[in-house]
Amino acid sequence: MWGGRFAEGPSAIMREINASIPFDKALWRQDIAASKAHVAMLGAQGIVTAEDAKTIAGGLDQVAAEYEASGVPENWDLEDIHMTTESRLAELIGPAAGRLHTARSRNDQVATDFRLWVRDAMDQAEAGLVELQKALVTRAGEHADSIMPGFTHLQTAQPVTLGHHLMAYYEMAGRDRSRFADARARMNRCPLGAAALAGTGFPIDRGMTAASLGFDGPTNNSLDSVSDRDFALDYLMAAAQCSLHLSRLAEEFIIWASQPFGFAALPDSLSTGSSIMPQKKNPDAAELVRGHSGRIVGCLTALMITMKGLPLAYSKDMQDDKPPVFEAASLLALSIAAMTGMVAETNFRTTRMRAAAELGYATATDLADWLVRQANIPFREAHHITGAAVKLAESRGVALDQLPLADLQAIDARITDAVYAALSVEASVAARASHGGTAPDEVRKRVAEARVALGLE
Ligand code: ARG
Repeated sequence: MWGGRFAEGPSAIMREINASIPFDKALWRQDIAASKAHVAMLGAQGIVTAEDAKTIAGGLDQVAAEYEASGVPENWDLEDIHMTTESRLAELIGPAAGRLHTARSRNDQVATDFRLWVRDAMDQAEAGLVELQKALVTRAGEHADSIMPGFTHLQTAQPVTLGHHLMAYYEMAGRDRSRFADARARMNRCPLGAAALAGTGFPIDRGMTAASLGFDGPTNNSLDSVSDRDFALDYLMAAAQCSLHLSRLAEEFIIWASQPFGFAALPDSLSTGSSIMPQKKNPDAAELVRGHSGRIVGCLTALMITMKGLPLAYSKDMQDDKPPVFEAASLLALSIAAMTGMVAETNFRTTRMRAAAELGYATATDLADWLVRQANIPFREAHHITGAAVKLAESRGVALDQLPLADLQAIDARITDAVYAALSVEASVAARASHGGTAPDEVRKRVAEARVALGLE
């Protein structure tokens, strides 16, 4: 492609280090679409003849059909997807192919192709997260009344409902969706026409190419257009944040499925066995989701460090932008799908969860709250009295509501028989009806709103 300037060809090392075709062939659909938009504009503007424009567009369709049928050929001499396509086009239609690259450069071409690819990846993440949210909302609705221990520091804290716990992840997935949506809105400007770095002297119509590729309009600065990879970083940041949520959810399922917890039986379809221990059913899918989040964060780090310190405009370092984005996108899609299946198909052991909620003095706060409400005791003092009651119960190995009234009254005379009604786990969750609290009726309200938002109602 630049034979005119060079006396000898590249060394074997140069060919290998330079070739991006092994990975950027994933951009072929975007590359064809952007070239078709470009040549239609060149034709409309009279920069190439209508006849050449038609021949080139037809040839591009033919190349696309070949790629579809038998994949993109990998010839390192052709470096990347852009030159691979153009060279095949020339073989198919002859010299007219050489007019396609008028008023553009690979710099604005790759910026455009990659934006289109990342935009699709954002849409796919969004669609996957909607499915995850649907699964969460469905299971939360089934378990609005299922009581489990709520934890802080992974120590039993207060009873909550499983529905409430699952709806926490609905909220996280909602923020993830909004991060992808924000990033998409911000990136939806078309760099095509920035050419190598400075724009072009040809009378192009950037509005036309932008519109035909579904962008809101053209980018405003040609230098920024070819050197900006914020859209890829925004995608990776959203993906990394999302993967952290998925990892946390995976971790919950791993803990719940462990024998000492026994809160959940994971679906066989998302578990594996052990080659030596016949009884084992391992939560490998969840563990891999947890592991993949590390790789996705690594992809974000990789591209941040690639971009750091690059002067304007394009530098070849930027060819390395694609592998981390491609890797993160496929890991993220798998992770979202795995957790969607896990949520939808796990068998929750509600009897065991409820029994665990009875342990660990989970309703101690309810005793303190009762003292505040019924005996008008300041909360700090009520906390102290309750601590003494927990200490006594613990020394006897019984639950709080198994302490006889006389013993409770010995700790504080203001305690009456009515306190027992407040100490059940049902009373505890039902009492927490503040907005966003764990009370079953409150959870049902949130589930109902979510179902409407997701178009399930
Ligand atoms: N394969 C290149 C990339 O992905 C295309 C742009 C090449 N531009 C250049 N001036 N060599 O970045």
